[in-house]
Amino acid sequence: MKEHFINESYEKKINELINQMTLEEKIGQLIQIVPSLFGAFDETIAKLINGEISYDEFQKLDRNYHEDKIRGGVLGSMGGVTGAETSNRLQKIAVEESRLGIPLIFGLDVIHGYKTIFPIPLAEACSWDLEWMEKTAEIAAKEAAAAGIHWTFAPMVDISRDPRWGRVAEGSGEDTYLSSEIATARVKGFQGEDLTDAQRILACAKHFIGYGGAVGGRDYNTVDMSPQTLHEVYLPPFEAATNAGVGTFMSAFNDLNGVPCTASRYILTYLLRDKLGFNGFVVSDANSIAECVEHGYSRDRKEASRKALLAGLDMDMSQGTYLQDLPEQVENGDIPEASLDEAVRRVLRMKFNLGLFDNPYRTNQEIEKKSLLAPEHVQAAREMAKRSIVLLKNEHNTLPLKKKLNKVAVIGPLADNQRELLGTWAVTGDPNDVTTVLSGIEGAVHADTEVAYSKGCDVSDKEETDIDTALKVASDSDVIIAVVGENSDMSGEASSRMELDLPGRQEELLKALHQTGKPLVVVLINGRPLTIPWVAAHADAIVEAWQLGIQSGNAIADVLFGDYNPSGKLAATFPYSVGQVPIYYNHPRTGRPASEVKFTSKYIDGPHEPLYPFGFGLSYTTFEYGNLNLSSSEFTKNEKAIISVDVTNSGNQSGEEIVQLYIADVIASRVRPVKELRGFKKIMLQPGECKSVKFELEMQDLGFYNEEMDYVIEPGLFKLYVGPNSKEGLEGEFNIIKQ
Ligand code: GLC
Repeated sequence: MKEHFINESYEKKINELINQMTLEEKIGQLIQIVPSLFGAFDETIAKLINGEISYDEFQKLDRNYHEDKIRGGVLGSMGGVTGAETSNRLQKIAVEESRLGIPLIFGLDVIHGYKTIFPIPLAEACSWDLEWMEKTAEIAAKEAAAAGIHWTFAPMVDISRDPRWGRVAEGSGEDTYLSSEIATARVKGFQGEDLTDAQRILACAKHFIGYGGAVGGRDYNTVDMSPQTLHEVYLPPFEAATNAGVGTFMSAFNDLNGVPCTASRYILTYLLRDKLGFNGFVVSDANSIAECVEHGYSRDRKEASRKALLAGLDMDMSQGTYLQDLPEQVENGDIPEASLDEAVRRVLRMKFNLGLFDNPYRTNQEIEKKSLLAPEHVQAAREMAKRSIVLLKNEHNTLPLKKKLNKVAVIGPLADNQRELLGTWAVTGDPNDVTTVLSGIEGAVHADTEVAYSKGCDVSDKEETDIDTALKVASDSDVIIAVVGENSDMSGEASSRMELDLPGRQEELLKALHQTGKPLVVVLINGRPLTIPWVAAHADAIVEAWQLGIQSGNAIADVLFGDYNPSGKLAATFPYSVGQVPIYYNHPRTGRPASEVKFTSKYIDGPHEPLYPFGFGLSYTTFEYGNLNLSSSEFTKNEKAIISVDVTNSGNQSGEEIVQLYIADVIASRVRPVKELRGFKKIMLQPGECKSVKFELEMQDLGFYNEEMDYVIEPGLFKLYVGPNSKEGLEGEFNIIKQ
């Protein structure tokens, strides 16, 4: 594995610096203060999250940027500080006024864009388009770097199999293979090939580890899983990020099997450094060191700080827990100074690799002004948003709509809304930059087409409803486009839901609209899979549009009116009911698989199949699969299979298909999943065109961890599936044979 970031001249300079540093200066490098978190959840940050104030207004508030600590050389990083002017001003104090002139590193949650806000990560994942996801990360890096940011707390690579968990919005869904591929793309997009490039930023693989496996889908809750599940399902995306050269990791809030990740030597040293070979540094999640006390894992913050540092937690993101709690413990020998030096070394290593010592002022206000919302960035937002849309239903070819109609009724609480379309973690986005669904539709239709709008009801407020007016608007229309879903603060951090239905009275609105007998197109604006069985049964068409960022309205209109043929495929299963959760496609086999037979693994009060499976998504055209071929029917474990399949566009318009390859290990020394994604290819086909799609499948990749936690590739029969989603496709088989 490539040895990232170890550069002889840097290491020499780091040693020289460490030898000059006082104890306080060393600890200072391990501190990240987030001014905006001051008072943690005070009313100001609530106003920001609720969109009552913009991030720029938020920044202008009288915030103590800890200039005295910077000048004293006892602050190494700041979070949540933006703007070339502010960044350069603070950096100047660090570089030109502190004793050793060690530059600051500025971090921020640039999760899906900085000013040009792209679709939420779960939406992007549904594009399965690695090139575009790398591109949007690259643009996010460009804008963030121009605004004085050096480091993003992204990509979030947590696997989530429970849509009650609000942070499913921030990741790449339920599948390990797809999430690993996307993690690689995003790390490369943020970091590029040369971190000293002033248009690139350091990435951060988070949250290490198992965060998405919280019991009950409740954020911050306990995580308990076997070492096999940890290694086979949750670890690979972090391994992929490491192999892609990610420069930092963030520890997760949760405990894993009883030990808080933030203070777990098994996680932060054995897994991360010994097993994955990671050379960068680890930052805690906000205040997660101090929270080891609440976990009952440490009697006080001092003990928490000591355990965290000795576990391999390098930088403390909080209000300075390390600053208060480390000095005395180093002085009295409870913490070996060598352990402290190792943490300092890792932080300085990444500052050198970023080029901050040679070029501490990577940007200026002119660069910033030119970069933010550059036209090519905004166009990229529209391209990515189009590709993130998943067509879930399209009865009688309701879609695409004609642009020339008498009247289009646009109904629903999210039709003329800007803020909610930014989605979660868009802290530096501006709702004013969002094209609403209504505007997108108005911009797409023929000039003679009337577009009438009515809100109908609120997203969550059961009182605020005006369904009668909505019905009047809809009564003489040719088609109803109903735009419903979730507010952006219903997913993301600390936003777990116990129900997955459409909130408020939205379904009541849809039922009333359905009564009109007009064609009903439902556009979903949401941050997680929803349970929408009534909509699935009664709408004529369903467009899963997630929260697509600033170009939401144009991208949705592009799909609704046929300027773009939807190609997205679900990266997360849509349950039929929340009672089915956790429900995911690659579940282990059981001795009594669900069937209509009584004594089998299912529910007696509802279906055992999900509403929409992983990998599912329709197109305006159709695709046929044929001629599945394997290069052999047997392979030794060091060989690879070449698989080919013919895919034909059997419809009358061009379209992209995401061809998916799954395998199943039929007999093994541990129960294996019913199937697992092991490859995908996105291809464009003209009407009538046929392409042969090829996959290479390394037998080495078909192993698993046995009871003794050895990674084994066992001889035996494997099934192979190639098709449009995790439920359908052509079937083949092969054997792995002994050498
Ligand atoms: C939050 C999140 C983490 C984020 C950090 C800084 O609590 O858990 O993902 O990067 O704090 O905002």
